[in-house]
Amino acid sequence: MMRGAGLKVVLIGASGLLGRAVARELANVEGWQVVRTAHSRGDAGSVKLDIRDAAAVAAFIEGEMPDAIVVAAAERRPDVCENNPALARALNVDALRSIAHAARKRDTWTLSISTDYVFDGTSPPYSPGDPPAPLNAYGRSKLEGERALLDSGAKGCVLRLPLLYGPVLDWSESAVTSLTPAIVKSAEFAAAPAVLDAWATRYPTFTPDVAVVIRQMIERHARGQAIAGITQWSGDEPMTKFDIAERIARTLKLEARLVAQETPADSTPRPRDCHLDSGMLEALGIGRRTPFDTALAQVLAHYPDAQIQ
Ligand SMILES: NC(=O)c1ccc[n+]([C@@H]2O[C@H](COP(=O)([O-])OP(=O)(O)OC[C@H]3O[C@@H](n4cnc5c(N)ncnc54)[C@H](OP(=O)(O)O)[C@@H]3O)[C@@H](O)[C@H]2O)c1
Repeated sequence: MMRGAGLKVVLIGASGLLGRAVARELANVEGWQVVRTAHSRGDAGSVKLDIRDAAAVAAFIEGEMPDAIVVAAAERRPDVCENNPALARALNVDALRSIAHAARKRDTWTLSISTDYVFDGTSPPYSPGDPPAPLNAYGRSKLEGERALLDSGAKGCVLRLPLLYGPVLDWSESAVTSLTPAIVKSAEFAAAPAVLDAWATRYPTFTPDVAVVIRQMIERHARGQAIAGITQWSGDEPMTKFDIAERIARTLKLEARLVAQETPADSTPRPRDCHLDSGMLEALGIGRRTPFDTALAQVLAHYPDAQIQ
């Protein structure tokens, strides 16, 4: 139920790479109240919530009575999910189920973030209705999480996203920025070259752009035009990690020594090209795409310090 012009949004997982960008975007909307949750990296303004604790989740949502819920909390590292499927299930499936249950009781519209890894990457581009076929434990758990929300009877939608990058607290936070230290090292005198995957095509997507998409989706909900079902958003510049590394080296003005790895070398199986079709949101006038080089320059502006700009 909307309260006048105001809107109360609960953002679960506000301390992560995407959650911080969303929190920053929503904080600028006049009349909106945003309640942020964190788990291990809370600050004075956030609520500590462990989404594995179903009773705590229910009490929190019951107590806050939000108009909208955004779920950005997850275990998103494929290797961790592969080695600890119980953790992947607890965070990416069971927690979604308890959030959806609490949301349905209050009739609260809920937006949950999912991934392009629900697809096997063999026949891009992918529409929301294409059959998913995840190749790894992360993708399987996120697909089950999508179903946990959508089959719950709660009002809401899933937003699938590809590889994310943006302002980081630590270079390892995003699979784009995590390449930076090895690229920098390769430029040192007599250093070994950095070997980078040139097999899989990715569509790096800037977290502040995703935050705009999420804000616009919540605005539609506030106007009584809530989006339901599966939606997708993606950057539109295809590149391999080798291509990304070349752009990082160029941005940092480094004579990096980079070698292309033409066959997959990851221990966890990853899809080759999961390009997500964003047409449905585009048709609603939703979206923003900052050119990769422009966004990368912002993210690397303070290198070697990783800090929020
Ligand atoms: N990163 C990518 O490239 C990418 C690509 C596609 C889709 N996605 C999806 O986008 C969403 C956001 O990913 P991200 O990269 O922002 O992840 P992230 O940086 O790893 O952040 C994860 C968030 O989950 C919270 N969290 C972890 N365990 C929790 C628990 N037990 N209880 C409550 N909260 C917990 C963390 O809180 P603390 O830090 O406070 O512990 C943090 O806020 C996820 O759904 C992910 O699957 C990410």
